[in-house]
Amino acid sequence: MPARIAPSILSADFVNLERDLAAIASADLAHVDVMDNHFVPNLTLGLPIFERIAQVSPVPIDAHLMIEDPDRWAPAFAEAGAASVTFHAEAATAPVRLARELRGRGVRAGLALRPATPVEPYLDLLPEFDMILVMTVEPGFGGQSFIEGTLPKIRRTREAVGASGQDVWIQVDGGVSRATIERAADAGADVFVAGSAVYGAENIPEEIAALRELAAAHVH
Ligand code: DX5
Ligand code: ZN
Repeated sequence: MPARIAPSILSADFVNLERDLAAIASADLAHVDVMDNHFVPNLTLGLPIFERIAQVSPVPIDAHLMIEDPDRWAPAFAEAGAASVTFHAEAATAPVRLARELRGRGVRAGLALRPATPVEPYLDLLPEFDMILVMTVEPGFGGQSFIEGTLPKIRRTREAVGASGQDVWIQVDGGVSRATIERAADAGADVFVAGSAVYGAENIPEEIAALRELAAAHVH
């Protein structure tokens, strides 16, 4: 299985987004964090900026919506040019209906879980989703440290995906770096979001390649 690297532009320079998107042209996806200051105590960007990012990005856009009422707002991010749209289980009223709406708009549907949210209620519903995002920090900010206690959940998710026979990606987001990516891959993740590790690096393409190589040796 390939190891996909999705740098998070939360750690990019927001007045030089086009330059900082060009810098991650060797990545698999550009991870765009949308925060509404309600679901999480931070605010990033909305649809008009998101749409421009999708127009200039050299790689497909992976939207991570940390917002209340995704049932209402998520489809617009699909229309705005995302390749995948991930919403939070804790915020969605009808996650299956929303995932079907997203797929109906031709994008991949992702379900995100905060560190303390169990994956078990969703395991029978895996065929409805293209990706499960296991948050490895509390969502809201870049630069936090990886929560090791999320590894068993990644493992259980990988087992269930394997048993389902479905092609569901497992994404990790938060505190992913050269120091933690191998453990996440070993537990079963195959899509790796990294913000500060990528944008804080001296050489961004080299960092993406190093992360991909470390992960690929452990992805199963
Ligand atoms: C946090 C965001 C992440 C964030 C990760 O809530 O969802 O995507 O950018 O940042 P790092 O990789 O610095 O932990
Ligand atoms: Zn994110």
